[in-house]
Amino acid sequence: MIEDAIKAFKDGKIVLIFDNDNRERETDMIIAAEHMTTEHMTTIRNDAGGLVCVPLSAEVSDKLGIPFMTDIMDAATEEYPVLGELSPNDIPYDEKSAFSITVNHRKTFTGITDSDRACTIKELALLCKNEEFDKFGKNFRAPGHVTLLRATEGHVLKRQGHTEMSIALAEMAGTTPVAVCCEMMDDETGGSMTTDKVAKYAEEKGLIFLSGDEVIKAYHEFKENQ
Ligand code: 5RP
Ligand code: CA
Ligand code: ZN
Repeated sequence: MIEDAIKAFKDGKIVLIFDNDNRERETDMIIAAEHMTTEHMTTIRNDAGGLVCVPLSAEVSDKLGIPFMTDIMDAATEEYPVLGELSPNDIPYDEKSAFSITVNHRKTFTGITDSDRACTIKELALLCKNEEFDKFGKNFRAPGHVTLLRATEGHVLKRQGHTEMSIALAEMAGTTPVAVCCEMMDDETGGSMTTDKVAKYAEEKGLIFLSGDEVIKAYHEFKENQ
């Protein structure tokens, strides 16, 4: 199963990952960002419906120079004290948030259309793949309509969010450690899509659906065999 997920991810297909009953209890659609297309964006906007984010490994984030949003807030608190009051120190399902900055590629128009967001995501993945980190500010503007997420160093060994699970999949697949994730919402209940409904969706669409535990276990084995 995990082998199928790694292959699907490597081939640019959508993979569905449920984190854990003891965490968000959410399933994200996950894609390797270097394979992002406008069609993928339309599918995740309609069929997932959550916030479209781009997880990046800690190493790539450092090369781009992007911090956690909380670090930016801490640094600006003296001038804007409300940023200190807004500290996300009470997230109910994890110790800290993965949020970083938001960006658009400079060749986008508003940045929000499916083609604009796909462009921002794919161009960022290609910039990282080609190690053109010095072109980040030249080619992208902030704030934008694509939310970047900084994976914790050591990813799933240290934090077990969809951010880190996306990067673990990328590492096992040997792809650029830049991904796309978006939570699957339920139009009927206004809540997160239940795993029963996700399983049905996966079967209908021929997609791989697996648990975070499977990704984490596979990553431990991958590291042991290195
Ligand atoms: C951004 C989120 C999502 O939950 C996303 O899955 C990434 O976060 P995490 O790593 O905490 O799971 O908060 O929409
Ligand atoms: Ca989250
Ligand atoms: Zn999540």
